[in-house]
Amino acid sequence: MSSSISLCRLHMGGRSGLEKCFKKLNARIQRRLGTNVVAARREHLTKDVTLTEQRAEYRSFEAVQAERLEQAERSVLIGCPNNLNEKKVLAYLSRHGDINKCFFYENYGIYAVVEYADKGSIASLHEGTAIPSVDHESMVPFKSRLLSLRSLGPVEPPNSKAGLQFQPQTTIPVNLLVQKLSGEESIGQQITTLREAYQLTEENIRLRFLVCSLLKDIAAAYFPECTVRPFGSSVNGLGKLGCDLDMFLDLNVIGGRNMALPKAGFSLEYQMKQDNSERAVTQNILSVIGDCVNHFGAGCVGVMKILNARCPLIRFAHQPSDFQCDLTANNRVAMKCTELLYLYGELDQRVRSLAFAVRCWARVHGITSSIPGAWITNFSLTVMLLFFLQRRSTPIIPTLDDLRDVAGPTDRSVIEGNDCTFVSDFTKIRHQGNTETSEQLLYDFFEFYGTFAFDRMSINIRKGKEQNKPEGAPLHIQNPFEPSLNISKNVDVKQLGRFVTLCQESSWLLQQAENKAPQAAGGAAKATPWGLASLLLPSQEPKGIKGRKTRKREPASEGIKSLLESLKKTS
Ligand code: CTP
Ligand code: MG
Repeated sequence: MSSSISLCRLHMGGRSGLEKCFKKLNARIQRRLGTNVVAARREHLTKDVTLTEQRAEYRSFEAVQAERLEQAERSVLIGCPNNLNEKKVLAYLSRHGDINKCFFYENYGIYAVVEYADKGSIASLHEGTAIPSVDHESMVPFKSRLLSLRSLGPVEPPNSKAGLQFQPQTTIPVNLLVQKLSGEESIGQQITTLREAYQLTEENIRLRFLVCSLLKDIAAAYFPECTVRPFGSSVNGLGKLGCDLDMFLDLNVIGGRNMALPKAGFSLEYQMKQDNSERAVTQNILSVIGDCVNHFGAGCVGVMKILNARCPLIRFAHQPSDFQCDLTANNRVAMKCTELLYLYGELDQRVRSLAFAVRCWARVHGITSSIPGAWITNFSLTVMLLFFLQRRSTPIIPTLDDLRDVAGPTDRSVIEGNDCTFVSDFTKIRHQGNTETSEQLLYDFFEFYGTFAFDRMSINIRKGKEQNKPEGAPLHIQNPFEPSLNISKNVDVKQLGRFVTLCQESSWLLQQAENKAPQAAGGAAKATPWGLASLLLPSQEPKGIKGRKTRKREPASEGIKSLLESLKKTS
């Protein structure tokens, strides 16, 4: 890689020289890779520049994914000793080759993510890595790219850790976020600040791809050509630090599937085992890989096989990264949904900013939850936001049908009989010129759903229009690519009712004088939460806003009841 710099050269400048070199390198790598970085910068550009820049810098979802996966293949994850001397560690690791990027984070110990310039360095690193001598007999000798660095010889002075910079892997607590937002000058700025505080960092995205790559190594024992790719909020541009890691074991990349046969002569084909259905095959593969993850996967704990779900999966925790992981297979429609959300987010910066605000608001008030149940999911909430943005008098984003109509021949995609075609290059999409502020849009979002005819209407982002509800589910949101499916089938009347009430309350709250921006209200910066910050306060605290109805917190027993009901339904 042209951007690689040998560590010997890095060392010559001492610590600050080393940091400067890495900063330069980072900047170069981020210029080439970082969608997040580009997005963050975009927030500060004027509108005209934004459009031009967006179009010039656009890289397709596929291209970004491919590059990040390749980068992850050249990376290792190393548990480090506490008394770490960064310079010495990097010098030690660089014996195996040039290092492109290295960062540290803390998670019950110190970890380093090290990206080599060349994949060959990983083989060299493995050559020089020992199997732990302690209790040798009881170890599974599976050599992965999750390593431990032992510090031998004299102990480093205790202050050697002090200069280490750790990359945050979790968000700030809501009370600190509320404080931070209260110091902003406008609701628009609050919305931007919330997104910046919550979105996945460049480093966290790298770590996610690295965990996928580690999982791929396990699956590759059976399927050497497979890939494991992240999907969902890890890569759709809407991920919050701490969100789960959805992974897709892709076996379709295995070569020879569509090999053209000669007209005459001979041809060889593999003898392969067959099962009753594609679903049965997926379940069997996941079951075996699940066992391997459980028995051989260092750092993978609490492995559960959830094979009877609509979409069979393996769930586990990856301890070194602290990610809650879901591994699926044969889930290409979800991958398409992810790409679609990514594309909408790239189209207009207001999409992601509002999605973060609405998702955070929903989480604080228990509208969404990490426990499966009758709650609205983040995915459903995002589709609701997209629908709202399509319904503006000048739409902010096009409908899915519009995106299909401008698709090129290479964009064509049919998965299990469903048309999943849409344009992948957004420079082909015409911008409609809506200039509404995100503040106005946030207010209107609450008003829109506070009065939406959920009893009769279904939400459909393919058409960008409400449609009559085909079935009795309280909330009906059509799956963008599988029209017969309702993505919010799990939501019950009670949870929908809570959502509607909270929307009404929130639109009312935003109208109150004390919740307007300090300048608009004729005052200086406010100490008390206002604007978006006031919407993130815990439900039962009226905080002195006169006339505001006090929301009752749902008793714990209600939450448990919903959970039990959902478990009953699942079983
Ligand atoms: N998905 C889908 N249909 C559903 C639910 C999910 O197609 N009924 C797909 C979507 O692409 C979604 C992904 O599966 O983005 C992952 O689902 P989930 O983890 O529930 O949502 P995320 O978008 O990842 O959001 P979160 O941050 O809550 O994990
Ligand atoms: Mg997810």
